[in-house]
Amino acid sequence: MSKQFAVIGHPIEQSRSPELHQAFAQKTGVELSYTKRLAPLDGFEASMKAFFAAGGAGMNVTIPFKEQAFAECHVLTERAQIAKAVNTLWMQDGQLYGDNTDGQGLVDAIQALDWILENTSILIIGAGGATRGVIYPLVQAGVRNIVIANRTLARAEQLVADLREKVPEASLAAISLNDLKGNFDLVINATSASLSGDALILPENLHFKYAYEMAYGKPSSFLDQAKSRGIPTSEGYGMLVGQAIEAFYIWNGLKPSLKDFL
Ligand code: ATR
Repeated sequence: MSKQFAVIGHPIEQSRSPELHQAFAQKTGVELSYTKRLAPLDGFEASMKAFFAAGGAGMNVTIPFKEQAFAECHVLTERAQIAKAVNTLWMQDGQLYGDNTDGQGLVDAIQALDWILENTSILIIGAGGATRGVIYPLVQAGVRNIVIANRTLARAEQLVADLREKVPEASLAAISLNDLKGNFDLVINATSASLSGDALILPENLHFKYAYEMAYGKPSSFLDQAKSRGIPTSEGYGMLVGQAIEAFYIWNGLKPSLKDFL
């Protein structure tokens, strides 16, 4: 029987993971099945355990269960420990393992665009789980200065205080969204503003060379403003593919090329 995988979430209908993993499988010659699994909001643990008890090989976790998945794991990778969230699960010797591939997926997507990360200064807008998950992989990829701007300044300050000692190679700072200014190589929008249709205003004295929007398939005032300045932009589809490739690699030991799936 082929290896069984699934993505678990609530809702789950929108997930692109099954089609991505099937495409990777076809490209690499791996045999697998990959299904969507809707868990009730209070039923993540039971549904996840039933999947592995029935012989499931690996599971992706999406909103709103990534923090619960983190809490269930016996063994966590370093990047999952820092993210405090897990999007990739598997069983090994009866132990539940957890990793978080979102941040590396973002790094892979940015590198596939041929945008440089080494020795750069970047601005991340937003201080939620999406931001937390990407700091460590960005620093590992060579980013040396990260400013986190958030509507609620205290949340950005908390994140910086939490992560500073985990990434001693980089300087981290928190600012209020009202104080956006300065020069950056790259600006990443990690807020949920585009998802809820809200606008983000980028002031004239904020200068940057590249703009990455983590959301995809939604109108983004953030990207519109960058485009109107003639700056290269990307929405988050590459990050989605990137995190899926990293999960596929953990489970199957083969790494399809991101550029083949963009
Ligand atoms: P996620 O896990 O996707 O990061 P989250 O933890 O709910 O989701 O965080 C959402 C982020 O988007 C937060 O940084 C939030 O700012 P606050 O901490 O001030 O709430 C930010 N955000 C959401 N809507 C926004 C808007 N309209 N303008 C600016 N920031 C917004």
